[in-house]
Amino acid sequence: MRMSKLFQRTLLGIIFLFAIIFFTISIFSGWHLYRNLTEEYKSKGTAIASSIASSSVETILNLDSATVQAIIDQYLEIEGVSYVFVVDSSGEIISHTFIPAIPSEIQELLKSHKSGIKDVKIEGMGEFLNIVSPITEGAIGFVHVGMNKNIINEKMWTVIGRQLGLLLFIFLFSLVLAYFMVNRISKPLNELTGYAKKLLNHDFSAKIDIKSEDEIGLLANTMQSMADNINEIFDRYEYALKDAVVELQDTLAYLTTIIDNMADGLIVVDKDGVINHINPAASDMFGLAEHEMIGKNIEILGKKLVDLVNKSLKTEDILATEIAITKNRFGKAVAKSIKKEYFSEDSEAKGILGSVILIRDITQEKQIDKVKTEFITIVSHELRTPLTSILGFVEMIERKFRDTLIPKIDSGEPKISKVLNKINRDFDIIRSEGDRITSLINDILDISKLESGTLRWNFEEISIEEVIFDAYRALSALFEQREIQFKHEIQPYLPKIHADKERLIQVMINLLSNALKFTEKGYIACKAELRNKEILVSVEDTGIGIPESDIDKIFEKFKQVGDIMRDKPKGTGLGLPISKHIIEAHGGKIWVSSQVGKGSIFNFTVPLKNREVLRNENTDSR
Ligand SMILES: Nc1ncnc2c1ncn2[C@@H]1O[C@H](COP(=O)(O)OP(=O)(O)O)[C@@H](O)[C@H]1O
Ligand SMILES: [Mg+2]
Repeated sequence: MRMSKLFQRTLLGIIFLFAIIFFTISIFSGWHLYRNLTEEYKSKGTAIASSIASSSVETILNLDSATVQAIIDQYLEIEGVSYVFVVDSSGEIISHTFIPAIPSEIQELLKSHKSGIKDVKIEGMGEFLNIVSPITEGAIGFVHVGMNKNIINEKMWTVIGRQLGLLLFIFLFSLVLAYFMVNRISKPLNELTGYAKKLLNHDFSAKIDIKSEDEIGLLANTMQSMADNINEIFDRYEYALKDAVVELQDTLAYLTTIIDNMADGLIVVDKDGVINHINPAASDMFGLAEHEMIGKNIEILGKKLVDLVNKSLKTEDILATEIAITKNRFGKAVAKSIKKEYFSEDSEAKGILGSVILIRDITQEKQIDKVKTEFITIVSHELRTPLTSILGFVEMIERKFRDTLIPKIDSGEPKISKVLNKINRDFDIIRSEGDRITSLINDILDISKLESGTLRWNFEEISIEEVIFDAYRALSALFEQREIQFKHEIQPYLPKIHADKERLIQVMINLLSNALKFTEKGYIACKAELRNKEILVSVEDTGIGIPESDIDKIFEKFKQVGDIMRDKPKGTGLGLPISKHIIEAHGGKIWVSSQVGKGSIFNFTVPLKNREVLRNENTDSR
């Protein structure tokens, strides 16, 4: 089993502690023992020496060395006694216990021999305490007893050894004790750590089994109930999430089904023009399988769609164009950029994300429209010729009537003069109605050409000022009749524009004549200025104005608002739609702001650089 950190540390602490205890106890008890043993040996030696000294007085006096020898020999039996010898007062050794001979160190000792204790080291024998006791105060001689110091050392080391053994035993015992104690603490701690790690790995169903009632048990319990809570919350969220996902999948499936069953073709491109979604209708329209379209650039579907997408990615306007689709059919493609605002706030999507293109098969509508246009064109043409001749004949008859007949008729007769007046008024009505039909036919021909794109344009560098004044001049007689003031405010040095002059005059005439038609008194003001690389022209009147609800309608074909009965002979309802076509063909815009009873301001713009727009005149802003 791996040693726990806690145990490792405790072990180190114990070893360190025991090392200090070993060391101090060894030194202290060793030193103490040594001193005590030395003291003991000293007193023992002294007692032996003095006992020999007192018992051997007579023997020495009798010079009975054999008896002395016997006495000292028996003392050798005593533990710690190494040698004994007796010298006489002259320093002669009378008898000794050295075998075989007296060592030289002893001889040396005798030279200055006095009573007392001395340390002696004898070569080959060891260290000794030499204790001297005088016999009758040294008058007869001295007794020397040698106590073995080696025994002291031996004893001392044995005791120290035993002590160390005991300590070692205690050490091992406490080690085992410490191991168990530490384990008792560290086991639950380790378990708790393992448990915490499991929680960290989101294994909230893991259990921990610590029963103790201490802080660790409390902590374990708290963690367990915390994990239970989290587990419960997770479960709840998991269910909620599953529900949400299912709901989302259903919604998605529903939406996908709708898109897939749409009659119109749907193509979604990203901001680089790469197709990332199509529906079956779209793939049918181009005769390409889904995998042949998804992931490819929109350019595989033709230049017109590329232009449409490129323009749509730069604006939020809805753009439309007509395109050719498979099997010689035509489609109307409508593009709208996808903006970020529909995505959640944390989404990484920024700005315009791409474009949605809807394609409707308009082959049938186009054919009907073509037939209609052809029919109208033919009818108009057919009508125009006889109408011209009718009007010509009317004019001729009128002239003849006026120049030849009237002078011959006696106008004195009141009845005749009344009839003449009536005929003259009828001629006026025929002429003005004839003019009205002519302009209606002309307008119809214009609009059908504009709509079918067959109108011939004559673009050149022109000045807007000339356009305005040419139009005014064409209408100046009407201005004089009506006594309405014509004001103009044209910014000097306006740059020339690339435009069809006659068509712009047509627009101006229409706007000015509308203003005249719907203004009782006051003024009509015409302004032209340069703004944002465009020429902005406005025609302001102080007329009846247009109700808010009709503002959008007046640019539609044949739409006339207000009191049509009163203004009956005045228009066709085609002037503004024609004007709109013409302005948009120049890449400009036309709009109106009006207040009922106060007047209207019609505005249109013509960009300075519009060549690009003209070439793509089919791609128009709806
Ligand atoms: N300046 C104006 N003031 C008030 N109403 C206007 C003005 N210009 C146009 N309208 C309204 O818009 C309608 C459409 O005008 P237009 O297309 O030129 O047809 P028309 O002039 O043949 O009636 C007019 O019938 C009229 O109701
Ligand atoms: Mg008009």
